[in-house]
Amino acid sequence: MYTLGINAAYHDSSACLVRDGTVVAAAEEERFNRIKHGKRPLPFSAWELPYNAIDYCLSVADIALSDVDHVAYSYEPHLLPGHSEDAHLSLPLRPSAESFGEEWSSPWEPLFYSYVVNAPRQLVGGAPHHLKARFSGATLESFEWHNVEHHLAHEASAFLAAPFEHCAVMTLDGRGERATTTLGIWRGGQFTRLSQVDVPHSLGLLYEEVTSYLGFLHSSDEYKVMALASYGVPLHLNYFLSLIEWNEEGGFRIQPHDLTEKFGPARRKGEAFEQRHYDMAASLQIALEGAALKLADWLRSESGEENLAMAGGVALNCVMNARIRDSGLFKQVWVQPAAGDAGTALGAALWIDWQARQDDDKRRWVMEHAYLGPDFSDEEIEAYLRWAKLPYRKLDDVATQTAELLADDKIIGWFQGRMEFGPRALGARSILASPLHAEMQAKLNELKDREDFRPVAPSVLQERFNDWFYAESVHQMQSRAAALNAEAAMAGTGSGTAPAALAAGSDSVPQQANVAASDAPYMLFIYNVRPDMADRIPAAVHVDGTARVQTVSPSANPRYHALLSAFEQRTGVPVLINTSFNVRGEPIVCSPRDAVESFYSTPLDALVIGSFLLEKRP
Ligand SMILES: [Fe+2]
Repeated sequence: MYTLGINAAYHDSSACLVRDGTVVAAAEEERFNRIKHGKRPLPFSAWELPYNAIDYCLSVADIALSDVDHVAYSYEPHLLPGHSEDAHLSLPLRPSAESFGEEWSSPWEPLFYSYVVNAPRQLVGGAPHHLKARFSGATLESFEWHNVEHHLAHEASAFLAAPFEHCAVMTLDGRGERATTTLGIWRGGQFTRLSQVDVPHSLGLLYEEVTSYLGFLHSSDEYKVMALASYGVPLHLNYFLSLIEWNEEGGFRIQPHDLTEKFGPARRKGEAFEQRHYDMAASLQIALEGAALKLADWLRSESGEENLAMAGGVALNCVMNARIRDSGLFKQVWVQPAAGDAGTALGAALWIDWQARQDDDKRRWVMEHAYLGPDFSDEEIEAYLRWAKLPYRKLDDVATQTAELLADDKIIGWFQGRMEFGPRALGARSILASPLHAEMQAKLNELKDREDFRPVAPSVLQERFNDWFYAESVHQMQSRAAALNAEAAMAGTGSGTAPAALAAGSDSVPQQANVAASDAPYMLFIYNVRPDMADRIPAAVHVDGTARVQTVSPSANPRYHALLSAFEQRTGVPVLINTSFNVRGEPIVCSPRDAVESFYSTPLDALVIGSFLLEKRP
């Protein structure tokens, strides 16, 4: 039985194919159409389906759309307020110029609604010409269509992928049809939602609002705000905390607010950063961490579960994730690597597959890695390199010879095996460099045309993790919260709220050691760099002494593991800098051709693609 998952309503369009409980393939449309996030999250673009990603997923199983049994679309339009399945729409010619009914929240919502409702027809009739082969022959009767609620798709992407038989589940994002935050339990093959917060009350939307205020692109650049936060003092923490009004049921309301009135004119893109921008980012970030801890605390108490699975775009905030990990509330915290909307294609497909296999309701798949995208054999890569008349040579020992280049401070495009699913490059489509010299960070930011304040992240051999990095203990976390409060008090704004928020849960639930806190294959948690090691990997250490670490095991990525081992043999350091193989504004490379184009249009020194090496000669 084949189940195709599709995410298309907002952005990060993606597809996923599940065969009898096992994920066969998953990929984001942006990697194929070369438009960041696939499309803008606008009503006008809701009709666009990820045809390229769907075509790729079907090709892995060597099937056509007509062979698919179920299609799971990660949005349920009938949950939009006031809309039934037999509704009739009349769309004014100029929606934004006309008055619109009370049931709609924006003049463009009817257009969005219509596009989403017609997605099945669009799927069978709208494929672009060059992809017709795999789509032709399918009709609306070929498969069963399912609209899966957006947050249920996020939740399933966590609990049906995490390595837990049962667990607490938390999702946080901007918004779905109605929900923005959900807390629930996965147990005995059943999912129960315990609490839900609806629009307009959304931590994700608050974060997006500040992202826009700071001159970044919302629903895209939130991670830049997180990076900016490390340079600020949380002078406005109490302001942001005061915007979040809590209730007893694991829910909250965001109070009306006006950032411009409070903080003055917004920063425009390209304007210089001022200290107030850093301070605002720091205040927001810590308020988010406190809010997430409060939700996690409530969920821990209500669910009684010891492990937590998370998803939703806010769960890409690796500082927030680390606070939850270090709080001691849960034994293990697992975050879906495609935590943003792309992951809802995977969650929706797994959920419908799970529902359809009633007589055989066993989980057959656990997400052990994120390498679910296209791969290219050495034969295919060499055929392309020859065709393009490019100079290359075949390496006898890819790991050792690449490690030598890296030890010589060369910056390398690394293209190996199946592409990652989710926003992080994890050693399949990565730019790699040595962490040994501090100036490498600036060099990489310059190469990628990124802002100076952005850190670059390290990969480390799984078995060496503890020698170089550590997670904070509960005690350390509370000490840091107290120091934070003292800092805020000195700035005249402290009232003890920060530690209360950051140490949430310490009274109500017994605290536990962080089992498996050193297992971080998806770069979704920050860690502290051991002080005695920090000066050996200066380029990988953020201004606050932390690093967003990826641990690399031989089972998940043998070739990358071999490279890290070879680099350690040569330098004594089992760490490399790993940043995504793209430049600003572009999606991560997918095909050999993308890699070659990126290589020759940037100052990269070498490209290691499969078993082949391309170098630039000065
Ligand atoms: Fe979402």
